[in-house]
Amino acid sequence: MKKILLICISGILLSACSKSSLDTPEESVTPPKKDTVYVNLPKDSCNNYFYSVNTCPGETCSSEMNISWGVKLNTEYCIVYLMDETGKTIRQTKLPASKAEKCTVYDGIYSKKANGDNFYEDAKFLKYRYTLSPLSSNTKYSYRITSHWTDSKGRKVSATSDTYSLKTAGADSWTACIISDFHSYPPLPGRLSSAMKMVETVNSYAKGKNGKGFDWVLHLGDVCAWGGSWSFWNIMYREKPFKNWMWAGLNGNHDNMTRQSAYSNKFFKYATANPLNGYDGEEGVCYSFTYGNTLFVMLNNEDMATSAGLQKAQAWVRQTLSRSSAKFKVVCEHYQWFYGGSGSTSQYSRWKDLFDECGVDLALGANNHIYIRSHKLNNTVYIQTPSSDNERGEDLIGELQYNQDLIAYRWNEGPKTIGALLMEVNQNQITVTLLDRNGQALDNVTISK
Ligand SMILES: [Fe+2]
Repeated sequence: MKKILLICISGILLSACSKSSLDTPEESVTPPKKDTVYVNLPKDSCNNYFYSVNTCPGETCSSEMNISWGVKLNTEYCIVYLMDETGKTIRQTKLPASKAEKCTVYDGIYSKKANGDNFYEDAKFLKYRYTLSPLSSNTKYSYRITSHWTDSKGRKVSATSDTYSLKTAGADSWTACIISDFHSYPPLPGRLSSAMKMVETVNSYAKGKNGKGFDWVLHLGDVCAWGGSWSFWNIMYREKPFKNWMWAGLNGNHDNMTRQSAYSNKFFKYATANPLNGYDGEEGVCYSFTYGNTLFVMLNNEDMATSAGLQKAQAWVRQTLSRSSAKFKVVCEHYQWFYGGSGSTSQYSRWKDLFDECGVDLALGANNHIYIRSHKLNNTVYIQTPSSDNERGEDLIGELQYNQDLIAYRWNEGPKTIGALLMEVNQNQITVTLLDRNGQALDNVTISK
């Protein structure tokens, strides 16, 4: 009975769509044959045809941004429509399937559905990455994507994505939300919703200060419980904050793993479209970009465990920092600088000499689920984010046993921690503020040049 009803509904939808879509679609390049039937799928169905659409930084965010998405294997081409702030289309670009890459890195990986059922990911798709360029600086844009294919009846079918927004760099002052460690896991949707709510809380706080909210989001890793689960990325990217802002991110240890503890930086790479300026084997995973006057160097801890791996990363960081003329230099990695419970040293000891040598202003980490902010140590302030999922936080912190002279502030709320940061940058200084779930500012540091 259900099946019959479904067939009837899809019949109604298809005929309704065919009626309005017999006209030549604006994106059609070759004049269509008269008897060609066009089917524009209803908007609500389009989540089934677009996977993990998200906006990532371009290498220079004042003039370019990257976008990432997946579509079904039978897609013949996609069209990216770029719109100005009023929603008017100002550019459209047709991208044949030959511009995409067939992605199978998540296919067959043991995973879990939102209802708790175990399953193997069915994830063979075409992965597109595309650079929106040139863009004007200090400007808001939006875009949507259509995908096009021919169905078994010879009809030309198209689906349209949601609309995604971004803001280019170029303003004298700008702001970003910094968040991490929400371990999105569909059977426990509260993790993702807690983090998304926290992003909105940071935006409201920013709006209270500057009247417009923040400009983009920086995540410091562990956004997925298992990055090998393609469905986890796909579900996460449907959340509104991924449609409203560009997200620059790091590969966390969770993003790098499967349910069965296999590891690959490809899970993060194929779920994003970061600049491909990282070192050998880390292209699109480690990367650098400038947003306004600030250089961000993004690292992948998972390939820095050995001293050879660390040396390789440090050579690239040194070179990237020395080539940049950006006023402020920020280095980001997923692992913590200090262990929050006792204050003992973690990644700090591996990086401090290089940061001192290269004049890094701000070092951002995460992973420990306990917020720490250091004093200014030589030139650098070290900060690590708290968790934000209301579930996987650390126990409440005890007395500081180590590095009392280095650590200025620690914070968490025990296992049920939700927090994030607001970063405000102008021509003279960076200010970072820790906010709790209620939008209360708990800690604040200003780094002046
Ligand atoms: Fe984490």
